[in-house]
Amino acid sequence: MGAPCHSARPLSKARAIMAHPLPQPRTVRAAAALRGTIAVPGDKSISHRSLMLSALAVGESRVEGLLEGEDVLATAAAMRAMGADIVRQDDGVWVIHGVGVGGLLQPETALDMGNSGTSTRLLMGLVASHPITATFTGDASLSARPMGRVIEPLTQMGAEITASPGGRLPLMVRGLCPAVPITYTLPVASAQVKSAVLLAGLNTPGTTTVVEPVATRDHSERMLSGFGADLTVQETNHGRVIAITGEATLTPQQITVPGDPSSAGFWLVAASIVPGSDVTIANVGLNPTRTGLITALRLMGADIAECDRRTVGGEPVADLRVRHAALTAIDVPHDLAPSMIDEYPVLFVAAAFATGRTVARGAHELRVKESDRIAAMKAALTACGVACEEYDDGLAITGTAGAPIPGGATIASLLDHRIAMSMAVAALHAQQAVTINDAGPVATSYPGFFASLDAVTGITTTGTPA
Ligand code: S3P
Repeated sequence: MGAPCHSARPLSKARAIMAHPLPQPRTVRAAAALRGTIAVPGDKSISHRSLMLSALAVGESRVEGLLEGEDVLATAAAMRAMGADIVRQDDGVWVIHGVGVGGLLQPETALDMGNSGTSTRLLMGLVASHPITATFTGDASLSARPMGRVIEPLTQMGAEITASPGGRLPLMVRGLCPAVPITYTLPVASAQVKSAVLLAGLNTPGTTTVVEPVATRDHSERMLSGFGADLTVQETNHGRVIAITGEATLTPQQITVPGDPSSAGFWLVAASIVPGSDVTIANVGLNPTRTGLITALRLMGADIAECDRRTVGGEPVADLRVRHAALTAIDVPHDLAPSMIDEYPVLFVAAAFATGRTVARGAHELRVKESDRIAAMKAALTACGVACEEYDDGLAITGTAGAPIPGGATIASLLDHRIAMSMAVAALHAQQAVTINDAGPVATSYPGFFASLDAVTGITTTGTPA
């Protein structure tokens, strides 16, 4: 059972939109080849969820392999501000003592979500069914992203949400306890919206149901079940029906976070496009809801081998060996979009080196990520001499048939880590160096990206370390 409801303490004043630190330019030159083994950091989606659920379990949970990127650290700070005890040991293991479902405390100050949409939307769900009020703030990128998609179902559950114009941050959520269980059919394919509703359902008496017509990443379902929540998933002819019955009691867990397939994606493409490359990416999570990029690259002719398939933390994992290959243009199947939604920027880079015209459409959601990723990649690739055509829901890109792209441009990363890393990959096979105007955002999901890049290419990228 959840803890008894108590009344909310007064709300502290929202902070203004966080000022972004000074830009960190980074210049990347062509590489002869990529060679060696790369260990990618822990999965971002799983890292967020492991902190949140551990913080709601009663007792001690331990998390190994947590991604220590800024986004996940924002989640850790928020869960601490709501009462959880979260400590990183010297050996890198994170130890969490949770407050119990229903036990979240009202934060004293606004929760600063930085650049992280996942932290914001999932935590809004948690607050929605607790008797607390929380204000969410973020950087300029996050403050431009739509929150209406979570405001809508959470309001149906009884939360009162006051947002900035257009349903944006800063916003305030006043939770209702007990909240009202709902059945909600997702209007957009979004794991964040699904997870927000399921997390709100944790402290809601009765059964909260989410129907997803198109399957999205299922880390929330897997982990909620792993922590002992009463959760069922049914495949029906109108989609996946996920039902959670509250109020839940969560049992503390020992979690090992697998490597992030989205971070591995940069190396899959880098090694595919740079002649002579042969790299192994160790410990990559291969949850089928995340492997769309591998499928698309294989359709293009990429040489990707899976070695030592195993299960880590309830998720399928393997080491991936990727060797340079001649890529051929494809029409990217639209049904791959949910399982590669974060990988389109780097897929566009792969397409820039393929033979023929790749059409990657059916991904309108790219418009509302950390940047408008269709416009951002169109601008960056065009500046580097790649022919691309913009559609409302994607790009068509004419590749060089394996030849280096011209490069020689400074591109704008627009506070978007994946734009910065994708263009660093493109630069590895360019006639002239490419400068990323601000590589700072890379630290949100992949601290150490440039150190690995330098290690596997044997060249030194210049700029401030990220
Ligand atoms: C995420 C879901 C995806 C993804 C994001 C992480 C998650 O967003 O783009 O990087 O951890 O649930 P949407 O659910 O909005 O598609």
